[in-house]
Amino acid sequence: MARKKKKLQETARKVVTHTNPRSYVSEQFRTLRTNINFSSPDADIRSLVITSAAPGEGKSTASANLAVVFAQDGKKVLLIDGDMRKPTTHYTFHLGNTKGLSSVLTRQATVEETIRPTGIENLDLLTCGPIPPNPAELLGSKSMDALIGHLKGLYDLIIFDAPPVLSVTDSQIIASKCEGTVLVVNSGETEKDMALKAKEAIESTNSRLVGAVLNNFKLSKDSYYYQYYGEN
Ligand SMILES: Nc1ncnc2c1ncn2[C@@H]1O[C@H](COP(=O)(O)OP(=O)(O)O)[C@@H](O)[C@H]1O
Ligand SMILES: [Mg+2]
Repeated sequence: MARKKKKLQETARKVVTHTNPRSYVSEQFRTLRTNINFSSPDADIRSLVITSAAPGEGKSTASANLAVVFAQDGKKVLLIDGDMRKPTTHYTFHLGNTKGLSSVLTRQATVEETIRPTGIENLDLLTCGPIPPNPAELLGSKSMDALIGHLKGLYDLIIFDAPPVLSVTDSQIIASKCEGTVLVVNSGETEKDMALKAKEAIESTNSRLVGAVLNNFKLSKDSYYYQYYGEN
């Protein structure tokens, strides 16, 4: 069972908004994109973080799909793997992870040589890089502020995939540097008070909660889970 789970985590995943843009799920991600755009009428949101209360609730899935729908809308998008505990974006986009965010923040590599195209128009990826012993310290560093500032000059939108907000402080640190946060709630799994605690944790940062994803892939055979893969 554990082996199966690991396999699921590490095998390449399909990004439904790319492989099947006309599906119901893709439509839902476009609605989320619209809601995010409307949440900030005066100025475009340039940086977003996707988080949830606990592991395995669909943060990485949601951030990849959200990045794709913004790219499909003509925005130049950079997805960054900010989950330095369990990075997965390199599996999703079939890319290596020898260099990434951690390498840039520790000055082992430049951003230019680290960012890679995903093969999807308008969408680039900055993977996590080697897992560092001190993720929170790296994410909270001045280098991180400088990096975000630099990347905003290169991209219309930066989207961070992040670890669970209730387990470690990393997500709050990233959120405090982003204009908007999207909370993923797994309706079959996330306890109501956990979801509320996650919301409070986000609101305690400078970031605004601009959207939520209700993921219910573990509900039943007829639910989203089967729809999600069945339509690919
Ligand atoms: N709506 C969904 N339908 C089917 N599988 C899903 C769905 N959302 C997530 N998954 C799968 O569940 C696993 C955990 O999702 P992931 O996005 O990696 O969660 P997190 O980043 O929150 O840990 C992955 O294997 C992913 O492909
Ligand atoms: Mg993840």
